[in-house]
This record gives sequence, structure tokens and C-alpha cells, in this order.
Amino acid sequence: MDKLVINGGNRLKGTLAVSGSKNAALPIMSACLLAEGPSTLRGVPELADIRSMMELLSDLGVSAKRVGDGAMQLHVEDESHSHAQYDRVRKMRASICVLGPLLAKRKAARVSMPGGCAIGSRPVDLHLRGLKALGAEIDLDGGDIVATAKKLTGANIFLGGPFGSTVLGTANVMMAACLAHGRTVIESAACEPEIENLADYLSAMGAQIQGAGTPRVTIEGVEELRGVEHAVAPDRIEAGTYMIASALTNGDVTLQNVRLDHMMAVVDKLRDIGVSVEAQDDNAAVVTSARRLEPTDVTTQPYPGFPTDLQAQIMALLCLADGNSAITDKVFPDRFMHVAELMRMGANIRKEGPTTIVTGVKRLIGAPVMASDLRASAALVLAGLVARGTTTVQRVYHIDRGYESIETKLRSVGADIARVAE
Ligand code: EPZ
Repeated sequence: MDKLVINGGNRLKGTLAVSGSKNAALPIMSACLLAEGPSTLRGVPELADIRSMMELLSDLGVSAKRVGDGAMQLHVEDESHSHAQYDRVRKMRASICVLGPLLAKRKAARVSMPGGCAIGSRPVDLHLRGLKALGAEIDLDGGDIVATAKKLTGANIFLGGPFGSTVLGTANVMMAACLAHGRTVIESAACEPEIENLADYLSAMGAQIQGAGTPRVTIEGVEELRGVEHAVAPDRIEAGTYMIASALTNGDVTLQNVRLDHMMAVVDKLRDIGVSVEAQDDNAAVVTSARRLEPTDVTTQPYPGFPTDLQAQIMALLCLADGNSAITDKVFPDRFMHVAELMRMGANIRKEGPTTIVTGVKRLIGAPVMASDLRASAALVLAGLVARGTTTVQRVYHIDRGYESIETKLRSVGADIARVAE
């Protein structure tokens, strides 16, 4: 197991390229199951979760291979296996997004039911409700979701849940509806840019989709989809993480391959805090900050609200603001495992019901820390960049799931960070 060793205090300065989005790439890769012929995806990040999805697709008869820098070719060669096994799903919850495509194309799917995870309880009832509305029969057997459908038929489906829309639920139902008979209307669909990027891929393959990126998505089923070339959108969460790195270190970092129009809530909050984020051209932004950080309140919400996937990182920033900030996670209310670790570094944070109150401190102090999930680990790396002394972040495999070469990228803009094998 590797760990990251960070000596805090360096000001970040220079240019960083943001990778393609993990959360766009994963459902897009699973959508290849719907297609005849090969697809080539560009901008697929080199990440542990992407490798897990390649392995899962290969179990399902897909030839999945890297064909150059950031490019991947996916081609269904054998449709006889439709079982996403527990060992795969346990490693990566996003495995659930093969359910819709398998059901629509192969008329049957067996996908291990994902369990809870470090960010809280994560049910899939909305995925199943949506697929049932299209005519699927769904049972549970031995911990697996067993879904069958002789024929899927378009329907009007409401996909809102207690915490708003569901991203991968919308992806699953949208993918299945592409090959259903007739029209499907998804109401309260997730509006995340990753859904729009998936819909662009499906449309290029021949699907008829209107309204992706809005709460109402309409899909006219078609007979067949054909593999195509497609570019994965830039990762707005990775971009936000590096924006916060620049903000924390009083830095001056230019980010390339960034879509600020996907990050309005984040940019707005950073500006409230006193961080300058300026577009440089269509896909670059310069992030600078003065020393004084203003406190603010952050409430995470489904897109276009502030993303839960940046909640831990902005908390690291607000730990050094000049006053009290309140952070509430309305998507995953229990996603606060990073609080105790940040406190080991000298942060002043207290949990009051669903809200966390962060009182800014003058400085954070390096410490050995350990996180339980991807974004929490990223927050600890950020805190380490600015803490006095040395921070070691253990269990780097969490970070490797979602950040491509984080230490190389941060080192290239001046951070003192190294990966060390334990
Ligand atoms: C996606 O997960 C992302 N994962 C998550 O990113 C992200 O945190 C999340 O969306 C919210 O933005 C991928 O895209 C691979 P949801 P997803 O279904 O789709 C509840 C990261 O760090 N819900 O939108 O699984 C659910 O419990 C990861 O990169 C139901 O009640 O999340 C939550 O409160 C972590 N029933 C809310 O909806 C359901 O059937 C939103 O979850 C489904 C969800």
C-alpha cells in the first residue's frame, strides 16, 4: 500500500491539465454494451475505477483496450454472459450502470446488489423503479438483482427521491429506454453534465434523446445503436480540487481542459471566499488567491448546485477562513468522515445535526492521516499542501480511484509531495 508524503507550505504556480471525467467515462463505457460495432472513446482517464470497469466489461464479453493516450476501444464480442459479480460491484459501485444496458440489449441481467459504502447508505431503488416502469421483471436472488424483460416499452417515469434526482439511476433508465419500444419521459432526471455527455454519446450512436441536462428527458426508442467515436468531458471535480489547491496555497494556477460552465456553483463559492477564478479562453481558467479567505456557507445539492463530490475539499479550504462557515450535505448527509482527520491536523470543526460548523484557524499542522473514501482523501492532500510540517496520507488507493497521477500533477506546479511504498 502506498502513502503520500507532503511537506506543506509551497505556493503552487504554473499550469495543470485536467483529465477526462471519471464519472462521465464510467456510464459511457457501460453504454458500449448497447451497440453493434466498436466505439472509440477519447479523454478516458487512467484510473483504478476505469480499470475496474474495463475488467467488468471484459467479464461481460467486451473487448476493452487502450489504443493510445487517453483513448480506449470497446467492442462487444460475446453476449452470452450477463452477470456482474459481487467481487466487481463490491470494488466499484458504479458497476450498477451495466444493469440498464444489459437488460435492454440482452433481455436479461444479473448484477450484484451494491452495499453501503463509506459515504453512507446508497440505495438503488430508483434505478429499479425506473426499469420496472419500462416493463422489466426484477427479483433479488442470492444478493443479486435479477432483471429480465422480453420487451421494454417506453413509459413516463418519475425518478426523484428523498435526496433529489439520481445520477446513475438516470443513466441506467436513459440507456435502457434507448432500445425500448416507443417514447419514455423521465421526470426529475439528473441534470449533471455527465448525463449530458452520456446522452451525446448515445445520440451519436443513433439514439433519439431530447432534454438531457434538464429535469425532463424524452427518449424515442430505436431498433439499433452503432459504435462511434466520442470525447469524454473534462472532470469538473478534479478541476475543482485543483482550484482549491491553488486557493489554499495563495497560488497562481492555470487549469487547462476545464469547463467553467459546468462549475458555476463552485466558482461562485470560491469567489465568495475571496478566490479569483478567471476564464482564460474557452477551456482554461486562472485561479489565484490573496491570503485572506472569507468564511461562507456551503450546501451541496444535485447539479447545478454545489457538488457533494467537492464538499470535503471546500471544507479543507474553509478550515483556514477568517471566521465561521456552515457546511451541509443534502445529497449524502453522512459524508463527513474527513472531519475527524482534519481535526487531527488542527482544524476546528463541530457537527451540529446535518450541518458541520467550521471555525477558521490560523494554521493546520501536518500529521499522519487516513481517509475512508476518494474525496475525503483528496481533502486531506489539500490540507497537507498548506499545513506546517509533514502530512502523510495513507491508503492512497482511494485517491487512485479518481485522480490521475495526483502527486505528479501537484509536483509540476511546485508542491512538495511524493508517493512512498509502505
Ligand atoms: C454519482 O453517484 C457519482 N458517481 C458520485 O460520485 C456522486 O457523489 C453522486 O452521483 C452525487 O452527485 C458516479 O457518477 C460514478 P445518486 P450515484 O444516485 O449516481 C439517493 C465520487 O466521489 N438515491 O445521484 O450513485 C442517494 O442515496 C462519487 O466520484 C436513492 O435514494 O449517486 C443519494 O442520497 C461518489 N435511491 C442521492 O439519491 C436510488 O435509487 C443521490 O445519489 C439512488 C440514489
